[in-house]
Amino acid sequence: MALLQILRYPDPRLHKKAKRIARVDDRIRTLAADMAETMYDAPGVGLAATQIDVHERMVVIDISEEKNELRVLINPEIIASSDEASVYEEGCLSVPGVYDDVERPSRVRVRAMNLEGEIGEFEAEGLLGVCVQHEIDHLNGKVFVQHLSMLKQTRLKAKLRKQERELERA
Ligand code: NI
Repeated sequence: MALLQILRYPDPRLHKKAKRIARVDDRIRTLAADMAETMYDAPGVGLAATQIDVHERMVVIDISEEKNELRVLINPEIIASSDEASVYEEGCLSVPGVYDDVERPSRVRVRAMNLEGEIGEFEAEGLLGVCVQHEIDHLNGKVFVQHLSMLKQTRLKAKLRKQERELERA
């Protein structure tokens, strides 16, 4: 297993759309194990392949407190969403130190393949629902800050550029 480097917003590679995975083989199983290790190490509750510069449709999620409920979702898609919406304060390993409110459907129905190559469906709400939607956004090239107002996005980019300049001077 290996720890992978996580891309940081505003890296343009975070905006690439990921391709579907045709079949589960050793390469995909290794990728899942490495992504899980990277997520637990960060630590975070979710990681999309896009964030480690692999543009294939896989995400890993573990929202459990004991960190013993790993979910690997291959080609995940949302097949139904509730009309009702909820606001949740989100963060992202690709945007460290930034947390902000995002409104999304409260419940979603998800279809995905697992590491055995079986396709299944489940309902997700609460933190899991937020996490699944956030990670699928990554596969489509979208970072959570793109749900914020343009004013907030402009301010955030200015702040990140300033941090970069300070790092260069240091
Ligand atoms: Ni994220």
